Amino acid sequence: MRIIKIFDTTLRDGEQSPGASMNVAEKLQVAKQLARLGVDIIEAGFAIASPGDFEAIKTIGNEVEGPVICSLARAKEEDIKRAWEAIKEAPRKRIHTFHSTSDIHLKHQFRVSREEALKRSVEMVRLAKSFVDDVEFSPMDATRTDVVYLCEVVEAVIEAGALTVNIPDTVGYSIPSEFGAMIKTIRERVKNIDKAVIAVHCHNDLGLATSNSLSAVLNGAGQIECTINGIGERAGNCSMEEVVMALRTRRDIFNADTNIKTEEIMRSSRLVTKITGMYVQPNKAIVGANAFAHESGIHQDGLLKEKSTYEIIRPETIGLHKTKFVLGKHSGRHAFRTRLNELGYTLNDNELNSAFERFKRLADLKKEIYDEDLEFLITEEFTTVPETYSLVDLNISSGMNQKPTAVIKLKVNEELIEKTEHGDGPVDAVFKAIAFITNTKSNLLKYEVKAITGGTDALGEVVVSLEEDSNSVSGHGNDTDIIIASAKAYINALNKLSARKK
Ligand code: KIV
Ligand code: ZN
Repeated sequence: MRIIKIFDTTLRDGEQSPGASMNVAEKLQVAKQLARLGVDIIEAGFAIASPGDFEAIKTIGNEVEGPVICSLARAKEEDIKRAWEAIKEAPRKRIHTFHSTSDIHLKHQFRVSREEALKRSVEMVRLAKSFVDDVEFSPMDATRTDVVYLCEVVEAVIEAGALTVNIPDTVGYSIPSEFGAMIKTIRERVKNIDKAVIAVHCHNDLGLATSNSLSAVLNGAGQIECTINGIGERAGNCSMEEVVMALRTRRDIFNADTNIKTEEIMRSSRLVTKITGMYVQPNKAIVGANAFAHESGIHQDGLLKEKSTYEIIRPETIGLHKTKFVLGKHSGRHAFRTRLNELGYTLNDNELNSAFERFKRLADLKKEIYDEDLEFLITEEFTTVPETYSLVDLNISSGMNQKPTAVIKLKVNEELIEKTEHGDGPVDAVFKAIAFITNTKSNLLKYEVKAITGGTDALGEVVVSLEEDSNSVSGHGNDTDIIIASAKAYINALNKLSARKK
């Protein structure tokens, strides 16, 4: 059985989704979960893109054990040097460099000839190779590149030392038969192809990213580049959970598998949702809320008799257990720590104390604490930002014959400021008061409310996305009161913007 490497680019291409940007602490959390999930390579960012990206790659390289840590770099000297600086302390490291090869890109965007593009690609692979042995090269927009020229580039970069050649379907243009044929042609025409792994990197513009990646596997690809929940540029990237579960479920066809611990899939999906604020559609394959829900009477009847009648994957395989009551207000610190360990979280003493306090506050409000509540509580613990603004008090009056009114008190750099505002609804009134106190110039891009677990006492999760000076951030707030959760989410987003500015 071949093992297909999983190259996760949630922290790089995934982060390129509008509104999905993550700070260093958030990226570190995701990277730790990716390591638990068993991905082979983590593309932790694009070192030269921003100081935050650089910092995140470096931190992940120092703190996350297991996977190879990779930085993206354009085929430019300064990019490659910066990528090296970011990864050099990681025990296992890779530089991933790329240059466009399609005539469309070369002519209209880069204004260089095919010969120049090839020369530069080779030189930059050599430069990367002078820093680190593990070098990957991507001919960007490969699927719209003349295949004879593409093979020339692939051969030349392998000759220069690239150990992985990645064939990106950058604009999600290819279809499975065509993409598979392209991989086959590369295998047949490139003389030194046995010295490198063929990777594929598919975008989902036509909804074919998973199918294209699988077709490439059937034709000899040995690495798939993908993201959790399929997030990424435009319509997203190949979805990790789909491609991994397709390989696992149809091993009879692919004769291939991955190193992924599939029981960690659901937790990874929830964490990325929580951190990016990008919810998955209910009917999304594998991780959607309805992916294992059976509504039809005929299906339910079959399932009750024998699961395999309508279930091709057991929910437990992806870590989806029936939510069960775990803890309550009488649970002690030991039970709390034990359950967190079972869920895969190891906290140091300070983190545990602070998380336990939050847990106790929540348990006062909510009788039964489910695993999902705990996961949200913990991710909040790990994703705190420096607080320029904090919520001190909030009062609301609202009703059928009354203008919604909010009285908000915030602490702004040690000063207490109070403001009363009216609005179209209580959330509107709260946001107006907060906007006034913080004097924010940001635009609201998204406001979303979701119940984390069932019941009217459920913890409500609010996501607020804001944009200011082309910086976009997502803030989160959890509370059993959704107006308070909304205020917390808005303030969290404002704190992130403020941290970015600083
Ligand atoms: O889609 C793409 O071509 C990329 C490259 C940088 C690999 O993301
Ligand atoms: Zn991409």
